Amino acid sequence: MTQRIAATLIPGDGIGPEIVDATLAALDALGAPFDWDRQQAGLAGVKSAGDPLPQATLDSIRRTRLALKGPLETPSGGGYRSSNVRLREEFQLYANLRPARTIVPGGRFDKIDLVVVRENLEGLYIGHEHYIPIDGDPHAVAMATGINTRAGSRRLLEFAFEQAVASGRKKVTLVHKANIMKALTGIFLETGQELYERKYKGKFELDSVIIDACAMKLVLNPWQFDMLVTTNLFGDILSDLVAGLVGGLGMAPGANIGVDAAIFEAVHGSAPDIAGQDKANPTALLLAAALMLEHLKLGDMALRLRKAIDDTLNVDRVRTGDLGGTAGTAAFTQALVRRIKGV
Ligand code: NAI
Repeated sequence: MTQRIAATLIPGDGIGPEIVDATLAALDALGAPFDWDRQQAGLAGVKSAGDPLPQATLDSIRRTRLALKGPLETPSGGGYRSSNVRLREEFQLYANLRPARTIVPGGRFDKIDLVVVRENLEGLYIGHEHYIPIDGDPHAVAMATGINTRAGSRRLLEFAFEQAVASGRKKVTLVHKANIMKALTGIFLETGQELYERKYKGKFELDSVIIDACAMKLVLNPWQFDMLVTTNLFGDILSDLVAGLVGGLGMAPGANIGVDAAIFEAVHGSAPDIAGQDKANPTALLLAAALMLEHLKLGDMALRLRKAIDDTLNVDRVRTGDLGGTAGTAAFTQALVRRIKGV
């Protein structure tokens, strides 16, 4: 009998509960051995416990070291700090892995198979920001500090290079802006090149590109890239761009891997504009669940899940509205579960 695995489940906000339900239905149909501990965060955390990241949720992840998470709403400008960023910091989730693979062919870009690996804890995301008031304007000047460290860059680069070797990637591209931010992003580039020369030379090809050129090249000819490795802010932007190449945010999963835990989620947000309307595409979270199964060395189940998603979308042609289809979340989930069960 497969050993049971304790895992934290955070339904999240907006479309979160709908896509989490769909994912649970698929995992149940697969016979995935999870014992879920359901917890709240984001707006749902504020409503239920007065905190966007309740202590019970943190305690649960500390115990299970594993979580599947729906999107969490973060107010822009003021309000509370992103619970996603806090979770990454709390559990030192230093690596963000975002694969983008074409599942529905015939889009603007076909046969995409790319991975973005993003540093998740440093750079301009550390939250060292403030305003300087001048002449009665409280927001006259805005300042932010970015910090990248040699050690932080190295552990992310090491994770990425190991992934590249394990998944047979041919080329790794370091993305930076070391021509302008010579220190802040230069340290990342320099550390990557040094690590490659010392430990990985010959295992794959390494090159580098400046972030702005990278954005253009991704749109003109994305097939020239295989794995992109970059700092926090650039990684955030590029992974959404890359998601767009494979049919949008509804198709893009993400894994946050760290020293103390691993948290799997969709790249997209809580999509308040379609929440509660049975319109959400659950594929991104389903693919995140596949990454979670792989992380737990349940590769066969991950393969079955991916195949069932592929068949549902391309053989049965059951698709949600964002993919040009007419199916609702529930109908898509039913079709997927039928595929998984082989009925
Ligand atoms: P969003 O990703 O929620 O939505 C952008 C657009 O994509 C919307 O039109 C939405 O309807 C559509 N969309 C997103 N996911 C979809 C899906 N699965 N199926 C069909 N359509 C989908 O980005 P937005 O509106 O900027 O952010 C909304 C909230 O989500 C904000 O509070 C933001 O902070 C939060 N957010 C949370 C993330 C997380 O928890 N990891 C990541 C990104 C944003």
